[in-house]
Amino acid sequence: MTTILVTGGAGFVGSHVCLALARQGFTPVTFDNLSRGHRKLVKWGPLEIGDIRDTGRLIEVLSTHQPQAVIHCAALAYVGESMEDPAPYHDINVRGSLSLLEAMRAHGLSRIVLSSTCAVYGVPKDLPITERTPCQPINTYGATKLVVEGILADYTRAYGFRTLALRYFNAGGADPDGLTGEIHDPEPHVIPRVLMTAEGSLPHFGLLGDDWPTQDGTCIRDYVHVSDLADTHVAAIGYLDRETRYPFLNLGTNSGFSVRQIVDVARRVTGHPIPVKVDPRRPGDPPALVARADVAATELGFTPHRSSMETIVETAWAWRRQTQG
Ligand SMILES: NC(=O)c1ccc[n+]([C@@H]2O[C@H](COP(=O)([O-])OP(=O)(O)OC[C@H]3O[C@@H](n4cnc5c(N)ncnc54)[C@H](O)[C@@H]3O)[C@@H](O)[C@H]2O)c1
Repeated sequence: MTTILVTGGAGFVGSHVCLALARQGFTPVTFDNLSRGHRKLVKWGPLEIGDIRDTGRLIEVLSTHQPQAVIHCAALAYVGESMEDPAPYHDINVRGSLSLLEAMRAHGLSRIVLSSTCAVYGVPKDLPITERTPCQPINTYGATKLVVEGILADYTRAYGFRTLALRYFNAGGADPDGLTGEIHDPEPHVIPRVLMTAEGSLPHFGLLGDDWPTQDGTCIRDYVHVSDLADTHVAAIGYLDRETRYPFLNLGTNSGFSVRQIVDVARRVTGHPIPVKVDPRRPGDPPALVARADVAATELGFTPHRSSMETIVETAWAWRRQTQG
């Protein structure tokens, strides 16, 4: 069985990636410091506790498990937090990624898939966003991911690495069989916060600005079901064996949802009223991000067939009801 090291495998995206790997016959080894991940989400392979900034520990784990490739999900990934306290973002996302690449180089391992993000694009002039759209991040989180993509390009050119950055738009939903899902504490993401309001653990959903230059005044994002993303990480491993034509690819659905539209879908799915309160805008938020992902469709067979907003909200709601009691 082929072993793949998944950094951040105890987190939201990482645990779905581990599940997708296991379903396709791989052995996922999770490397995670559990700062934001959960031991109970590591179910499909061993858990190695460690920090990606600890190169020695990474080399030890690579020697023990001899993986054929790395899927690098470990990061700090909150836009608002990155603007308030940028230092850990540079330290973990940039220095931590460099440490991982150095451990791989020391061990003679060269294939890596990076969890990147639409936050690298900033505020695009035109929508939808293609891979040719210029990258001008407006928050520290996106800036750190863009730096890491640049480091990957250098490792490809100079050291013969085979790398692919998956720039995904907003991940949502949960495994349709209820085997894993999203657990963040505190939870910054829109869909879980809307559902927390539906279940009564938040008194109202705080909408971050309703005066954006969009149709209903709320931010528009492109939501992809986390299981569709996870399957694409597995496809990317095979892609690195065959091709290195594209250093980065968008994963999105070519359709945007406003925050108010999400609240409406969640009201229908849950049957709860979901009171909304308008809060001020948050620094670092672009008004609208929608992807074109036809290159990933051609290159990786990316088909976001679980990414309707209904399916995303239904699976996330089923996961919350299962975990909250
Ligand atoms: N969730 C999204 O909508 C989204 C969108 C685009 C890109 N991404 C990217 O996907 C990846 C995973 O995001 P997520 O939403 O699952 O976040 P998450 O916080 O649920 O998972 C991140 C994991 O990394 C681990 N981690 C953090 N710092 C670490 C360190 N120094 N050493 C070892 N492990 C560490 C955490 O414990 C956690 O398990 C991130 O790289 C993020 O940038 C996420």
